[in-house]
Amino acid sequence: MQIHPSILSADFAHLADEIGRIENSDAIHVDVMDNHFVPNLTMGLPVVKAIRAATHKPLDIHLMIEDADRWAPDYADLGAESVTFHVEASGAPIRLARELRARGSKASMALKPATPIEPYMDMLTELDMLLLMTVEPGFGGQSFLDVVLPKIRRARQAIEDSGVPIALQVDGGVAPDTIERAAEAGADVFVAGSAVYSADDPSKAIDDLRALARNAQR
Ligand code: DX5
Ligand code: ZN
Repeated sequence: MQIHPSILSADFAHLADEIGRIENSDAIHVDVMDNHFVPNLTMGLPVVKAIRAATHKPLDIHLMIEDADRWAPDYADLGAESVTFHVEASGAPIRLARELRARGSKASMALKPATPIEPYMDMLTELDMLLLMTVEPGFGGQSFLDVVLPKIRRARQAIEDSGVPIALQVDGGVAPDTIERAAEAGADVFVAGSAVYSADDPSKAIDDLRALARNAQR
């Protein structure tokens, strides 16, 4: 059960300090948005390189950008432990997943809430992690979409059937009142932005979320 705080909800003028407030997290979730794949713009390679230099914690890069095949390998090259591309933005997801692994990163693929998992069942073993979005990507602070829960259950079953230990991440609206049902459905990696950074004590918020997820795990 891993908690990956999203720095999308942090103070962008003090990113290094903000990362220092979440030392007990399992990784730092970095949301890269290009104002084309999603209607919001955050950061690109130069800022992520600066984050890489500022922390030893694992970086979990979530690319919400068009033409992922062109850009995702650069994020593996800068030393990110995991790079997630959206299947809706990749022309060749199997080739891209192999490229990320060849460059030393974990390969992860994301699906928007309305994108079905079934067409991708046979390629799960190409991945180290599957991200099922539980909000429409683009902004922090949205409400968790319960409509995604059955897809989380089907993905968990498919991962177990594959015999390969693929992580199952959920991102969007993860908070104390939603994390238990995501964990019960089979998620084991949880992104939380506003639930961590809007808390008075982000570090305690992480421990509390992790405890709730552990207790709810099937
Ligand atoms: C949304 C991003 C999320 C976002 C989550 O498109 O991918 O990582 O930061 O924020 P919360 O936890 O506030 O929903
Ligand atoms: Zn994200």
